[in-house]
Amino acid sequence: MKVLNFVNGEWKASINKQFVPVINPANGETIGEVTVSIEADVDEAVKAAKAAQKQWALVPAPKRAEVLYKVGYLLKERKEQLARLLTMEMGKVLEEARGEVQEGIDMAFYMAGEGRRLFGDTTPSELKDKFAMSVRVPVGVVGIITPWNFPIAIATWKSFPAIVAGNAVVWKPALETPLMARELAKIFEEAGLPKGVFNVVHGDGPTTGNALVEHPDVQVISFTGSNEVGRIIAEKCGRRLKKVSLEMGGKNAVIVMDDADLSLAAEGILWSAFGTSGQRCTACSRVIVHEAVKEELENRLLEAMKTLTIGNGLDENVKVGPVISEGALQKIDHYVQIGKEEGAKLLTGGYILRDGEYQKGYYYAPTLFTDVQPTMRIAREEIFGPVVSIISVNSLEEAIAVNNSVDYGLSSSIFTRDVNKVFQAMRDLDTGIVYINAGTTGAEIHLPFGGMKGTGNGHRDSGVAALDVFTEWRSVYIDFSGKLQRAQIDIDE
Ligand code: UN1
Repeated sequence: MKVLNFVNGEWKASINKQFVPVINPANGETIGEVTVSIEADVDEAVKAAKAAQKQWALVPAPKRAEVLYKVGYLLKERKEQLARLLTMEMGKVLEEARGEVQEGIDMAFYMAGEGRRLFGDTTPSELKDKFAMSVRVPVGVVGIITPWNFPIAIATWKSFPAIVAGNAVVWKPALETPLMARELAKIFEEAGLPKGVFNVVHGDGPTTGNALVEHPDVQVISFTGSNEVGRIIAEKCGRRLKKVSLEMGGKNAVIVMDDADLSLAAEGILWSAFGTSGQRCTACSRVIVHEAVKEELENRLLEAMKTLTIGNGLDENVKVGPVISEGALQKIDHYVQIGKEEGAKLLTGGYILRDGEYQKGYYYAPTLFTDVQPTMRIAREEIFGPVVSIISVNSLEEAIAVNNSVDYGLSSSIFTRDVNKVFQAMRDLDTGIVYINAGTTGAEIHLPFGGMKGTGNGHRDSGVAALDVFTEWRSVYIDFSGKLQRAQIDIDE
């Protein structure tokens, strides 16, 4: 299968006709090839988007939303087919792939609803016979850059609000997962979105992504990915005074207090640590446990981890799929070696699976370290794989301090039955998402999604908050007094 760019409603190879293979991480098989774009391809897409946006912004928002409703129904109709393709190109198990497509469906219907809201404010003027209001206006051309770990959901989080708000989009998906991008573009095409409103250019970060970031006609960049790349993008956007929304790494912790339901906690940890093979920005990679229940929790986790069947995600019995690439395997293994050298105790896992059916794919054994100190690198740096560090503490205050001691601030969770501890945690955990008696994953699309500190730059995906990224506020004053009224001066004192 050849995956082409989608520019101005047309499917086309990049100008230099270059292609690279798309690999199924479960077995190393080539399942397609994708075109790799150069600057001129990006320029063409931005020109198309710029022209299309002018017309699109004039379409009434409830009408724009009708396209999103159609997109939602098409996603729903194709959920199973899309999920299978997603598993083949990204590796996550089928059940999770279905969940990811569902996130896209939910976002379509939610953002379509926004077409009938897109609320601004009306507010009294300080002067007589004067009316004041603020309205949302589209920013223009939106550049979207997304990772491979949620190849369709994250694209919907960004493109759906952008489009309903009257923008046009140029999207650079991750080069590892172009098939989902192709499917989403096809769905927009079938839903009747006007040509040029949604464009896809495939390629790498340094050339294609960079061209999008540097393009003077792209007004905003919305990026999800690594901190390393996010920083480069932020610097470039900063120089151009371009709006940029960044959603990056995490070092998310589950806190387990001594009064917790330990079987529920073990279940929650297992799901959020080893789901998607730990390749979520929300994945649990630290467990901060009260000393009094540490041993029991470890035993429960070790017992539960025996049920984690590893393999090709298309097999419904498999619980943990492959990681994305050989490079990812090496990075994860490197961190495991660092953990051992730092003196953490390896309870289980800690190796690459190379035998038999695992030979051709990229599989890492779910790994548990204990006696981890909060200062160790494995407790501070994002590994993006199935590796968990257990850290023990003696109080809620200490647990919160350990949680907050990392540079990231995306998601956190606490298991406790004590309502006072719950509210203290809600107040003091410095993450953008906090879960009570659930793991660190499972964000719903109608709430803001994003993090504090090094995870982001103050913006949010999802929820109404996403509209803040893709719109500007315009304040409008209407004077119907028929005379000059000077604000702050012509007032009755
Ligand atoms: C991500 O890992 O980038 O809450 C997104 C969750 C998912 C989204 C994760 N709904 O884990």
